[in-house]
Amino acid sequence: MNRLKDKCAIITGAAGGQGRVACRMFAAEGARVLATDLEAGARREIEGIAPGAITYVDADVAVMDGIEKIVDTARSVFGGRIDILYNNHGVILGKSFMETTPEEWDRIHNVDLRSVYFLSQRVVPAMSGGGSIVNVSSIGGLVALENMTAYGAAKGGLVMLTRGMALELRARAIRVNAICPGVIDTPMPRNFVRDRPDRDAIMRAMAERHMMRRLGRPHEVVALALFLASDESSFMTGSIITVDGGWTAF
Ligand SMILES: NC(=O)c1ccc[n+]([C@@H]2O[C@H](COP(=O)([O-])OP(=O)(O)OC[C@H]3O[C@@H](n4cnc5c(N)ncnc54)[C@H](O)[C@@H]3O)[C@@H](O)[C@H]2O)c1
Repeated sequence: MNRLKDKCAIITGAAGGQGRVACRMFAAEGARVLATDLEAGARREIEGIAPGAITYVDADVAVMDGIEKIVDTARSVFGGRIDILYNNHGVILGKSFMETTPEEWDRIHNVDLRSVYFLSQRVVPAMSGGGSIVNVSSIGGLVALENMTAYGAAKGGLVMLTRGMALELRARAIRVNAICPGVIDTPMPRNFVRDRPDRDAIMRAMAERHMMRRLGRPHEVVALALFLASDESSFMTGSIITVDGGWTAF
């Protein structure tokens, strides 16, 4: 119940499949949560997940104004101190190497990689008592996936960003770790195949590709994020951990 008691946590991508579950599970463990995502209209619903424990702010993490808005709001809501940054936001691109445009490359790298760098950089000064940063990469950041080369490059970049941040932030007692999920049953994979006539077959094939022959569930990823955010993982930093039902193990 109290694994994050009185911790002040920023959760990005809070209106998404994993983000909503993260808001619920972090608040249930006693955290005060600054939840953020793109849509201003999500406020009532997200704050309603745990009334009193969650404040929602809409912001685009791909632009510096959005990043400053998140950090300013967090500082004012939390009274200046931030303990946890859960970089959960992300977008996916399913496009072949030969067809991906410079604009698509820039978008995926801005949202999935650059934003994590600069949001973290701006949050760190408020982590004056130490802290934990949890980045959400992907199995696509570890192994090659068909038509996901640009996404994989961004998520793979996040793996090295995590290790570099862990090294450079150790003197501030800030731990930095990354999670690499397999396919998790959220709007992301479902939107990804939405326009395909064979979408049900693709979803089944994706499930079968995991050693456990099913998709992951959002709480199965968030459970690890919660552990990494909490003091229970006090000897972990620079770790890259899969939650992938065995996908990358064979
Ligand atoms: N679902 C999967 O199969 C899967 C697999 C591996 C990794 N991941 C990663 O898990 C994380 C959570 O994804 P999810 O499964 O909940 O997907 P999701 O699409 O439900 O949620 C992602 C959220 O990120 C937000 N977002 C996107 N661009 C943004 C921007 N510019 N500024 C602010 N917010 C923005 C979206 O609005 C959305 O609410 C992502 O980083 C994703 O890449 C997901």
